[in-house]
Amino acid sequence: MNLTLKINGTAHSVDIVEGELLLDVLRRLGFTSVREGCGVGACGSCTVLVDGHSVSSCLTLTSRCAGSEIQTSEGLGKDNPVVRAFVAEGALQCGYCIPGFVMMATELLSENLHPNEKDVADHLEGNICRCGTYPEIVKAVLTAASEIPK
Ligand code: FES
Ligand code: FES
Repeated sequence: MNLTLKINGTAHSVDIVEGELLLDVLRRLGFTSVREGCGVGACGSCTVLVDGHSVSSCLTLTSRCAGSEIQTSEGLGKDNPVVRAFVAEGALQCGYCIPGFVMMATELLSENLHPNEKDVADHLEGNICRCGTYPEIVKAVLTAASEIPK
C-alpha cells in the first residue's frame, strides 16, 4: 500500500507492506536516529513523537500514522535547546539510546517548561541507557528547560 507520511514537516510518499512497523519504515527512509533496542516496547530507543506524543515506533503500525505529524530527532537540528544541552552536559557515551531520550525530553518540555529533577526522572523512566548516563541526561534536560525562553 502507498501512503503519505509527514515526517519532520516534510511529506514522504512511501510504499509499505501490511503490518510494517514505523521503526522499519523510518529507518528505510533514512531516519536512522530511530533505533531498535529491545523491539518490544521496553527500552525507548525507538521513540518518536506522533502528533506531539511519544510512541515506541517498534510497536506502532505505520498505517496508523498517515495524516499525523511524525517527529524524529533529525528534525530538531543542532540549535535545538535539548540537543544543545545534551552536547553541553556530555550526556552520552555510545549514543545509541540518546535520540530516544531527546524525543522524550522534547515531549516533557512541550508540557512542562519548569520540570524538577523528579519530573524529568519520572518522564524518562521508560528509557534505558545501557551506558548508565542517567545523571548527565537528567542534568541536560534541566539545562534545556532553563534555556528555553518562557
Ligand atoms: S526498540 Fe522500541 S522500545 Fe525498545
Ligand atoms: S549512551 Fe550508550 S546506551 Fe545510552
